[in-house]
Amino acid sequence: MSEKAVLVTGACGEIGQALIQNLSARGGYRIVTADLAPLPVAIKSLSAEHLQGDLVNRIKQFYDYDFEIIYHLAASLSSKAEVATEEAHRINVEGTMQLLMMAAYRSEKYKKPVKFLFPSSIAAYGFPNLQAKQAAGLVKEDEYNTPHTMYGCNKLYCEKLGLYYSHYFGQRHLDENPPTMLDFRAIRFPGLISAFTLPSGGTSDYGPEMLHAAAQGKPYACFVREDTKISFMAMPDAIKSLMVLTEAPRESLSNAVYNIAAFSLTAGEFRKRAFAAFPCAQISFEPNPRRQGIVDSWPEDVDDALARQEWNWMPDYDADKFFDEYFIPEIKKRYAHKPSLRTQE
Ligand SMILES: NC(=O)c1ccc[n+]([C@@H]2O[C@H](COP(=O)([O-])OP(=O)(O)OC[C@H]3O[C@@H](n4cnc5c(N)ncnc54)[C@H](O)[C@@H]3O)[C@@H](O)[C@H]2O)c1
Repeated sequence: MSEKAVLVTGACGEIGQALIQNLSARGGYRIVTADLAPLPVAIKSLSAEHLQGDLVNRIKQFYDYDFEIIYHLAASLSSKAEVATEEAHRINVEGTMQLLMMAAYRSEKYKKPVKFLFPSSIAAYGFPNLQAKQAAGLVKEDEYNTPHTMYGCNKLYCEKLGLYYSHYFGQRHLDENPPTMLDFRAIRFPGLISAFTLPSGGTSDYGPEMLHAAAQGKPYACFVREDTKISFMAMPDAIKSLMVLTEAPRESLSNAVYNIAAFSLTAGEFRKRAFAAFPCAQISFEPNPRRQGIVDSWPEDVDDALARQEWNWMPDYDADKFFDEYFIPEIKKRYAHKPSLRTQE
C-alpha cells in the first residue's frame, strides 16, 4: 500500500511533535515537516523531509508535493500575537491563506480534495464583559464570534477563509457542476496541556505553570484571578481529535468548524490540585489586567454536541484522569532529582 503524503507545518511546536509521533506510530504516512526551527531530536527520524524557514516566504516549495493531508499548525500564539500584531497577522493569516490557495489549486487540478486540518481556538470567542461570560453557559460554534485579540481575529478569519476556499472559490453558478474543492476541517481547541513539553508563556498557561513551579518547590504568582474559568484538554485528546476528524467521512460533517471540550476549571481549582500533589506549593494570585482581560473574554466552557454527534468525539481524559494518570505523575518524574521537591509520597 502506498504511503499518504502528509504536511505538518509548525512541526516543532507542542502539538506538532505529539502529532508527528502519533502519525508515525500509526504508519502509512510519508510525513513532510515545516517549521522556522530545525527538528528536535525526538521527531527528527520520523520526518521524511524537513522544510526549514518562514513558510510565508517559502510557499512555492509546497506546490512541488502531492499532499493528501495538511495539518497547518504553524502560528504566532495569543500572547506573542498581542505584542507583535502585524507579524502575527502575516504568519497567521497570510501564511494560512497561501497554504489554502495551494491546497485548493491541487484539489481542483488533480480532482482529488486535499484534506486541510486547521487548529482554531476558543480565542475566536469574545464576551463583552465578565457578567456575559458567566451567564453564557456552554457556548456554541456560532455564538459570541467577536474576538478581542489579534490571535482570535486571525483564527476566526482563517476559519472563514477555509470555508471560502472549500466552497466558493471560483464562484461558479449554483447550477454548474461543482469543481473538486479542498476539504477544510477546523477544531476550536481549548487550552491544551502536555505533560512532556514546558508551557511557553501562552495566555492559558497559568494552570500548568503553577504545577511546574510547585513541583520544583518554587513560588508562583498566578496572572489571573482565582475564580477565572476556561476549558482545558490533555494533549493526547487534542491529537486524538485531529486524527478522528481527519478520518470522519465528509458526508457526515455538516460544519467546517467544531468545538471540542474535555474539562473546565478555575485557576483556584488548579491551585487545589497543586496543593494536593505538592503540599509545600507557594501559589498566590496577582492578576495582570491585560492578560486577565483576555481570559475573561474566553468562554468558561463550550458546547461540543456537534462534534460528538457527527464524528463521535469523546475525550479520554476528564479532570481527575488528567491530573492523576497523566500530568502529575509525569511532572513528578521530571523534577524527581530536585532536592527541593517534597510531595505527599
Ligand atoms: N497549544 C494550545 O493550547 C492551542 C490551543 C488552540 C489552538 N492552538 C493552535 O495549534 C497550533 C499549534 O500550537 P502549539 O501549541 O503547538 O504552538 P507552538 O508555539 O508550540 O508551535 C508553533 C510552531 O510554529 C512555528 N512557526 C511559527 N511561525 C512560523 C513561520 N512563519 N513559518 C514556519 N513555522 C512557524 C514555530 O517555530 C513553532 O514550532 C497553532 O496554530 C495554535 O494556534 C494551540
